[in-house]
Amino acid sequence: MNTPETLILRELLAHEDRFVSGTLLAAKAKMSRVAIWQHMEKLRAQGFEFEAVRSRGYRLTAKPGELNATLIKAYLPLRDRGLTITVLDEVDSTNDEAARELAAGRSVPFLVLARRQTGGRGRFGRRWLSEPNGNLYASFAFRPKVEPVRMQTFTLWMGANLCDLIANFCRVAPGLKWPNDLLFSGRKAGGMLTEARIDSDQIRDLVFGLGLNLRTPPGGWPEELSTRATALDAHAAEPVEVNKFTAALCGRVLLAYERFIRGDHADVLADLWNRHDVLRGERISALHGAHRITGTAAGIDEEGCLLLRTDRGRVERLRAGEVTLEKRLI
Ligand code: BTN
Repeated sequence: MNTPETLILRELLAHEDRFVSGTLLAAKAKMSRVAIWQHMEKLRAQGFEFEAVRSRGYRLTAKPGELNATLIKAYLPLRDRGLTITVLDEVDSTNDEAARELAAGRSVPFLVLARRQTGGRGRFGRRWLSEPNGNLYASFAFRPKVEPVRMQTFTLWMGANLCDLIANFCRVAPGLKWPNDLLFSGRKAGGMLTEARIDSDQIRDLVFGLGLNLRTPPGGWPEELSTRATALDAHAAEPVEVNKFTAALCGRVLLAYERFIRGDHADVLADLWNRHDVLRGERISALHGAHRITGTAAGIDEEGCLLLRTDRGRVERLRAGEVTLEKRLI
């Protein structure tokens, strides 16, 4: 459902910095001009600024720089407007919040965004530092109704799609380190965490979480991260507007999700992954069962397993776990 504020904003954005008459806005939002004025006041309270000229109407002069659900909705492509969006100031983890809301019966698809997480989580339960500094902490929620076995390649597919999307905003394309890291020049800019609740033979619901560094911290990265972390702003072609970027992210995630559910992603996954894979051809080691094995990364197979060619020429398939590069890339 679009709120009147979203409808008004969409109209003003479509006219860029030109004036839009109150009559046109009233017709688009199907309400009186007085009601339009009241909704403009609500938008002002959210940080939007307008110029109002009696004979010409309204012109948008400033947008909030912080995450704003109304603005993200206004930027969303037509076909993605079934998505509902919540922006929270603070939450333990957007993945946990999305799971709670799924359990409470909220309609899908929806997106939970937070300006700050107090218990942001990464793989293996690791802490995901989530300061309120303009980075993205986002969780998309779905009810896929597919067999659990189909989800093996989900995070890889989403990651490859996100790399493609992020490349559109940057001077250089990001890379992917199997299975869930987004990197620029060997430094981590983001990570993904997919969590599903499974009934006996079906996925009940699924949360796809993304943490993405959009801005380098004002004082630079803390010492321990300075050689390992990076943010989009250091690689972007021009300053990234967080709400516009988030709308583009929503569009890509929903499109990728639909393809995944239809199953017509399978033929292109390997190609897309290979385009962004930073491990391919590199010397790596990984835990395989109880043993550490070493060899050369050789891409992924159709089940999303990482292929590792050992020095004896044997190809091992890694289904899960963590990979270490011999030449330190991250
Ligand atoms: C990783 O690299 O290990 C994955 C990190 C995923 C972090 C994101 S931030 C939004 C969502 N909420 C969480 O608690 N985790 C994910």
